[in-house]
Amino acid sequence: MSTNMLRIGFVGAGCVNFGRWNVSWDHASRLEQLGGFQVIAIVDPDTEKAEQVLKTRLTSQHGRYYTECRVLADIADLIVMNPDAVFIGVPPVARGSLQCNKDLELQCIRAGIHVFMEKPMSVLPLDDFQPYAAAIQKAVGESNVVLSVGYMFRYHAAVTKMKELIKEHGGKVMAFNARYYYAYTEMTNKYWYNADLSGGPVVEQATHFCDLARYIVGDVDLASVHTLMLEADDRSGAGHIAHVPLGAEEDIPPRKRIPRVTISHWRFEDGGLGTMMHSIALPGTRYEATIDVQLDGLKLSLIEPYQDNCILRVRTMEKGRRNEDRDFTFEGSDSYSTELKTFMEAVRTNDQSLIKSSYSDAAKTYELTWAIRLSGEQNFRA
Ligand SMILES: NC(=O)c1ccc[n+]([C@@H]2O[C@H](COP(=O)([O-])OP(=O)(O)OC[C@H]3O[C@@H](n4cnc5c(N)ncnc54)[C@H](O)[C@@H]3O)[C@@H](O)[C@H]2O)c1
Repeated sequence: MSTNMLRIGFVGAGCVNFGRWNVSWDHASRLEQLGGFQVIAIVDPDTEKAEQVLKTRLTSQHGRYYTECRVLADIADLIVMNPDAVFIGVPPVARGSLQCNKDLELQCIRAGIHVFMEKPMSVLPLDDFQPYAAAIQKAVGESNVVLSVGYMFRYHAAVTKMKELIKEHGGKVMAFNARYYYAYTEMTNKYWYNADLSGGPVVEQATHFCDLARYIVGDVDLASVHTLMLEADDRSGAGHIAHVPLGAEEDIPPRKRIPRVTISHWRFEDGGLGTMMHSIALPGTRYEATIDVQLDGLKLSLIEPYQDNCILRVRTMEKGRRNEDRDFTFEGSDSYSTELKTFMEAVRTNDQSLIKSSYSDAAKTYELTWAIRLSGEQNFRA
């Protein structure tokens, strides 16, 4: 691969690739800051939406990246254009499967195209997903392309710092606790409310924090996972939420609505314990997330990693400061941007080793999220 202009394609004209609302993701805008590419196509069966996205981009100050861009309805038409790399950002029900033309990633890899794909990897239960994952691994081995899965927090400066501090301190992580509170009252992405389309809140969303558990601490003993869920139709009424955006849930039977609270705990293979809580209750659009990690004599709290003003609060054994917290801040650090910059560099140098979230690693996170979901479903309160 030369260091010249990369020819790239976007698959999906939605939120993750092109932004919307007041959310922090928007791959196109990050790439436009980096430069060094031409967008040759935007693929979306909703071609009207893709045309609108293209029009907006063309008339922006970054229009020069889109002058050769076509709108296509089918990924096959992009593949024959032989792009260097594609960014696949479509709902997981439309990919991650050997069935019904949902093998989007596989088609690209087999054609020798580098792939950046979003999480989650699929919505299929593990037994059905595994043949697809095996086909991907085989194709990657044969075509030698770079494949990156969108776990951007692995590139977060605070997470890098946490790993450094844990290494310096030595010893085992004793406890990991993640909290992810979804702000739901103004989000209208309908597919997210349907577990058949999204995988549900842990497979689809809290997956980022399951991934960080594995990235920071290590693999989880899946047999130890235990989960409770507060269902939408819990007989106590505690699962009732009154501000779901119009049209998002009305046609989903109450029994199939996504759980409002998920609390899970597990043992890491290395011995420490993990817990995670996901809830759907906050007003507005601003999520809240915190991760606490404890070792003997060291506590790390990552507060609001989605926000620019995120804090890493550290308490150590340092002499004279044993009762004090020390705050680290990371202004100007953008994990999405670092993730995409790394991917572009890996494509240019054909170096998969730069990628922090490989397919095989991300597949383990997928397994963990399914273990959490299935345990919760087994513990249904009838
Ligand atoms: N890493 C992150 O922080 C992050 C943030 C948001 C979304 N995501 C992930 O990105 C993915 C997409 O989410 P979104 O919010 O952009 O959804 P979205 O609904 O806003 O957009 C998805 C688009 O994909 C299109 N699409 C469906 N099937 C397609 C196909 N076969 N080929 C091409 N386009 C197709 C749809 O028409 C839609 O326009 C999801 O997997 C989601 O989990 C990740």
